[in-house]
Amino acid sequence: MATDAMTIKEQVRRRYGGIARSVRESGESSSPPAPASCCSSEGVVNEITFFDNLYATAELTGLPETVTEASLGCGNPHAIAGLQPGESVLDLGSGGGIDCFIAAQQVGPTGQVIGLDMTPDMLALANENRAKMGLQNVEFRQGEIENMPLDDESVDVIISNCVINLSPDKDAVFSEAFRVLKPGGRLAVSDIVTQGDIPEPVRQSLEAWVGCIAGALDEEVYLQKIRDAGFTDVRVESRDVYGTEVLEGQTLGPAAEALLATIDPTIVQGYAAVSAKIVAYKPR
Ligand SMILES: C[S@@+](CC[C@H](N)C(=O)[O-])C[C@H]1O[C@@H](n2cnc3c(N)ncnc32)[C@H](O)[C@@H]1O
Repeated sequence: MATDAMTIKEQVRRRYGGIARSVRESGESSSPPAPASCCSSEGVVNEITFFDNLYATAELTGLPETVTEASLGCGNPHAIAGLQPGESVLDLGSGGGIDCFIAAQQVGPTGQVIGLDMTPDMLALANENRAKMGLQNVEFRQGEIENMPLDDESVDVIISNCVINLSPDKDAVFSEAFRVLKPGGRLAVSDIVTQGDIPEPVRQSLEAWVGCIAGALDEEVYLQKIRDAGFTDVRVESRDVYGTEVLEGQTLGPAAEALLATIDPTIVQGYAAVSAKIVAYKPR
């Protein structure tokens, strides 16, 4: 990796902070913000609709536009989390809060939801959204998912949507997730993983990292890191597989763009980006 962890985090904060500001500003004006997703580049309208329609209509009912417009996920962790009334839930990289607000409906007034994010503008947007919805059972905390500001064994369920791929230290993320989960607790994440080899210039592109491509790990490597942290029954519940088209619409930096302009598509035929839903359990 050509860039260090601090540089990656600065760029991730810059990118997602910019999206949060644009959604907040659009909430104060009549013009909608430019469409964004975790796999589109800043200022680029991504015409690819991979990650549309992630949620059931019922899940989105009653959510303000400043929640749905800031939805930057690549899947729906609620489809696999099986949240129950009264449970405590932690959302890693909560962004504008969409998955926290859906979780809050599912765990009800006796449950609790904590959204954790490192980007101040995202936290400001999430807190504005929470105030609009008048929710008492949701709070947002500033912090990094590699060093979570939570007590040991304090939550029943961890969810996350298109965030862990952005971390430069996935071992720390899974180890922290294991620490803060109660025994018997579960991890339910949607994330981007890969099958086959990403072209090296794309791997080296900081822009592709913040666009959720370059930091994505091979699926088997990702699952093994979860097991290494102590989790059991680690399994992929479902996959949506995309080919090199996932790279289109990205600003990748000069080296990767030059490569993609000239590349024989068969060279990267074996490569796929996969939006995977993964569950794992902390033993009792
Ligand atoms: C692609 S967005 C997804 C947001 C949200 N999960 C959703 O589905 O809309 C990634 C979010 O993760 C946050 N994030 C990325 N890396 C992080 C880290 N290492 N620690 C804490 N938050 C992080 C970013 O600030 C951003 O809000």
